[in-house]
Amino acid sequence: MAHFRSLLLLALFTFSGVAVEATGPGDNGFVGLRDNYYRNSCKDAEKLIKKAVQAELAKNLKHAAGVLRMHFHDCFVEGCDGSVLLDGPGTEKTSHLAGFEVIDAAKAAVEAVCPGVVSCADILAYAARDSTVELNGTGWAVQGGRKDCTVSLASRAEAELPPPMFEVSQLIDSFARRGLSARQMVVLSGAQTVGVGFCDKFVSRLYDFNSTFFTDPSIDPAYATELKNICPQHSFNTSIEVFMDVITPTSAGVFEANYYKTLQEHKGLLTSDQSLFDDSRTRAVVTSLLNNRRFQKEFGKAMRAMGAVGVKTVGQIRTKCSAVNE
Ligand code: HEM
Repeated sequence: MAHFRSLLLLALFTFSGVAVEATGPGDNGFVGLRDNYYRNSCKDAEKLIKKAVQAELAKNLKHAAGVLRMHFHDCFVEGCDGSVLLDGPGTEKTSHLAGFEVIDAAKAAVEAVCPGVVSCADILAYAARDSTVELNGTGWAVQGGRKDCTVSLASRAEAELPPPMFEVSQLIDSFARRGLSARQMVVLSGAQTVGVGFCDKFVSRLYDFNSTFFTDPSIDPAYATELKNICPQHSFNTSIEVFMDVITPTSAGVFEANYYKTLQEHKGLLTSDQSLFDDSRTRAVVTSLLNNRRFQKEFGKAMRAMGAVGVKTVGQIRTKCSAVNE
């Protein structure tokens, strides 16, 4: 019966001329998403969002990484539904995220032209793509059609987001639960070629690692010394920033394949980064993504798949991204 239903849906979408590109399990069958979604309802939406993102990032380019990360958090916690943008006590926003002003500015720009049409979850998906382009990425076509939710809970974020000490098996499981493959997990991790992390996320790799090793032996020794100088012993400091990608250490980052080179050189910042190269199941994928053209292409496809995770067909189009409509 279920098989029959999916065949019927496939037929419907083939006949209606809607492009459904199957790029991975997450992109697979969420039939409500499409390219050029606002073509008729708000034809300049993508242009307006891009312009607003560019203007905001001209003030602070570091927010580009923040917006990209925010889209990941949004999609991994109860699906891509704008939950990460809601204000209030105990919402997901309380976790360490940056760049909300970029989304607010983009929302204001589209609301001024077509009020109540473009969802915040979609704006975040477009803005994440536009942010990587501002950091020299090649970009990808973003699908629209997500509805906004009315609930956001920090406790859900804590339960759902993979923590930085996860190893490959746990990462594969976490992504598989969202219909994303192990390869897509490695590709999407490449987003961490831009931006920064704070000492508390990796200090346990530097000091008292385990009963055999004081420092995680998978870290290049010179890099470990460098990190120890920045993050003093036993300090779970949440204000000292370290570049996620030590090969292109500019304050905002450059969106390219160097992340995978850092892993090959044992300079991955987090356990979840370095284990991708150290584990035989994912090492070949890391090596293949050293090619920047391949990385950019696969990243776009994987982001389309991630952007389709848990999308809601019913919900609101919020007027303000930080608050539920009255
Ligand atoms: C694979 C599992 C992942 C884990 C365990 C993880 C964990 C982390 C952690 C701990 C940080 C540092 C943040 C801080 O210290 O406050 C970070 C930063 C970042 N992550 Fe991830 N992440 C993962 C996957 C992803 C994905 C899939 C994306 C996007 C597609 C992403 C994008 C980013 C970006 C852009 C930053 C830098 C943020 C900034 O500078 O504001 N991450 N991640």
